[in-house]
Amino acid sequence: MNHRNLKAFIVGYGSQAQAWAACLRDSGYSVEIFLSRFDGTSAQQARAHFFPVFSNTALGQQVSTEAQPLIAMLCPDSAIAPVYEECIAALNVPLTLVLAHGFSVYSQQLKTQSHHSVALLAPKAIGPKLREAYTRAAPLPHSLKAAWMPPAGSDPSLQQFARALGFDPGHLIPATFENETIGDLISEQGLLCGGIFTLMEWTIESMREANIPEALIREECITELELIAGLIQSKGIDQAFLAISAAAKAGTLEMRARFESSGLKPEFESQMNSIIDGSFGRRFLNAQHTGELEQKTLRFQEKLKSLQEGFTS
Ligand SMILES: NC(=O)c1ccc[n+]([C@@H]2O[C@H](COP(=O)([O-])OP(=O)(O)OC[C@H]3O[C@@H](n4cnc5c(N)ncnc54)[C@H](OP(=O)(O)O)[C@@H]3O)[C@@H](O)[C@H]2O)c1
Repeated sequence: MNHRNLKAFIVGYGSQAQAWAACLRDSGYSVEIFLSRFDGTSAQQARAHFFPVFSNTALGQQVSTEAQPLIAMLCPDSAIAPVYEECIAALNVPLTLVLAHGFSVYSQQLKTQSHHSVALLAPKAIGPKLREAYTRAAPLPHSLKAAWMPPAGSDPSLQQFARALGFDPGHLIPATFENETIGDLISEQGLLCGGIFTLMEWTIESMREANIPEALIREECITELELIAGLIQSKGIDQAFLAISAAAKAGTLEMRARFESSGLKPEFESQMNSIIDGSFGRRFLNAQHTGELEQKTLRFQEKLKSLQEGFTS
């Protein structure tokens, strides 16, 4: 599929933006990158990948040459509303902001002018995976999915834009900004990140106390994690459970009973409810603003580093 003469404006050049920019260019779009810092790593990388790089403040001038421009806001979620307010809100032309995550709308930070539209195109994959899937399948669509909410009455250019990233129209899952964000936060806190990093820490500590060789701990905790995820993906949750060994089944059932009787479930539900009622979002923005999040992140990263170093010592 080719989209010559179309332009895409991308704010940011991080994980998603690098993938989007490369896929859109390969699909025939002319891509411009907008950044707040001209001398940072992102600007250097974008130039090294032969993309024209502009300051955010040039957005108005650059998008004014296009009818109904699409601006992909791929900077950190907390920067989306400030960039919009400072560089886009005053533009008296119709335009569409494309968001890769609904957080700025869910947290009520982003409030747009009535002649500006907001679309959701939230890939359910990290940037490098999106790029890899696009490259492997092009010119056909890949198998990845995205949460999808075009603005009411939007023209086909947004569908074309999604297709240029390799998304099959049938793989665009209709979702509101709120339910994409709440679903994303619940899965990452309950399972993908909140669950995994904590359980991995506890499991590695127990294995070290039991004097298991480091090379075996690595295989059990990291290689086999990928294998069980693959099993669930290919067989489904119930069949994957049936496929594990008898000892693994017995251990799963005992551990589940312990989790349930430990008081962990009400704590888990309380965290999930704070995502749904918006209080997690407020705590997150405040912790980011005060620097508390960065401090806690560094402390936990040190802990995880010491776990990882065990594998290489
Ligand atoms: N990462 C994922 O796997 C993933 C998956 C799905 C959706 N998303 C969503 O995709 C969006 C981008 O996330 P990401 O993880 O790709 O970001 P990221 O890797 O953290 O990169 C952020 C980029 O934004 C730039 N930036 C920071 N402040 C900016 C500003 N004020 N104006 C312009 N650019 C600015 C940074 O440049 P500097 O280096 O100069 O600071 C960097 O290039 C978010 O909405 C996120 O929720 C991410």
